[in-house]
Formats: sequence, structure tokens, C-alpha cells
Amino acid sequence: MNITFRPFNLHSDREIVSEFLMDTKKITGDLPDDPELDRKNYIKAVVNTQKRNVNFCSMIINDQKIIGFVDIFQVEKKPEIGFLRFNYLIEQYRGRRISEIIMEFVFSLMKKYQCQKIYLDVSENNPRAIRFYQKTWIQVYW
Ligand SMILES: CC(C)(COP(=O)(O)OP(=O)(O)OC[C@H]1O[C@@H](n2cnc3c(N)ncnc32)[C@H](O)[C@@H]1OP(=O)(O)O)[C@@H](O)C(=O)NCCC(=O)NCCS
Repeated sequence: MNITFRPFNLHSDREIVSEFLMDTKKITGDLPDDPELDRKNYIKAVVNTQKRNVNFCSMIINDQKIIGFVDIFQVEKKPEIGFLRFNYLIEQYRGRRISEIIMEFVFSLMKKYQCQKIYLDVSENNPRAIRFYQKTWIQVYW
């Protein structure tokens, strides 16, 4: 495997990232009343975040194929804090330690911005993601 990261591109990646988002909401049982509006709002947020740094929202690539997405940014009003908004790997790539490479990317990007802490929200209906965050040195609080 050869895992790399490249910035989200609105035109080519909008559809696939929207699918990733909806798939995750299915996992957590958190399907929105208006999925189209939800996708639209999320993509708008991604585009806004990229105005600060295109790498904040990045596609995960293996051998030129998109296998996931990671969305992390520095909180504007609290610059010492990074926020991991979304993280997704397509199913066949889960459980193969790629998630650790994603977290190295996240940590090194946030380190450049002198973030001392990374926060995230994770659904309690998502035990796999909770296990993953716990094993990658993130403390999960309820
Ligand atoms: C979250 C995600 C990126 C983590 O990547 P991953 O490759 O699945 O993570 P890993 O397998 O390395 O780690 C998950 C841990 O949970 C364990 N696990 C696997 N399936 C599980 C399940 N159904 N329930 C609970 N734990 C599970 C794994 O064994 C692993 O722990 P271990 O290495 O100690 O055995 C990936 O699962 C994903 O994309 N999920 C869908 C999107 C999502 O939920 N994103 C998070 C939103 S905040």
C-alpha cells in the first residue's frame, strides 16, 4: 500500500465525500430528515475550511484511488485547539492500520499550527470509531 493525502477538490470529490457522510450517518443511526440539505451544508463547511488551508480537508489515496477522507482544522477562536470533524475509510480498507497513518497526518498538520489538543465528536453508537480513537491516543469522554 502507498497511502498519500491530497486536498479535497469541490468538483471531483463532492459526490464521494457526500456518500461517505451519509454512510457514516447510517452507521450511527443518525440519518437527517433532509439528506440533500445536510450534504450541501457539510460541503459548504468543507469549502469554507479550505479557505484557511486546503490540506485541512484531504482525500486519502492508495495507489491513485480514493479510499477515504479526513477533515481536521484549527479552531479559529481557540487556536491551541484542533477539531477533527470527520474521518472516513471505505470498508475494505478498515482494520488495516491505515487509520494510524491518518492520525499521523492529523497530528503533524496540527503540530504545524501549534495545536496542543485535538477535539472531536463521536457518536456513542459508533463503537468501532470509539475504539479507534482510544487506541490512537485520543481520550474519549462521555
Ligand atoms: C473510524 C475509521 C476511520 C477507523 O478506521 P479502522 O481502520 O476501522 O480502525 P481500526 O480497525 O484500525 O481500529 C478500530 C478498532 O476497533 C475494533 N473494531 C473492529 N470492528 C469493531 C466493531 N464492530 N465494534 C467495535 N470495535 C471494532 C478493531 O478491532 C480496532 O481495534 P484493535 O486494533 O484494537 O483490534 C473507520 O472505521 C471508518 O471509516 N468508519 C466509518 C466512518 C466513521 O465512523 N467515521 C468516524 C466518524 S467520527
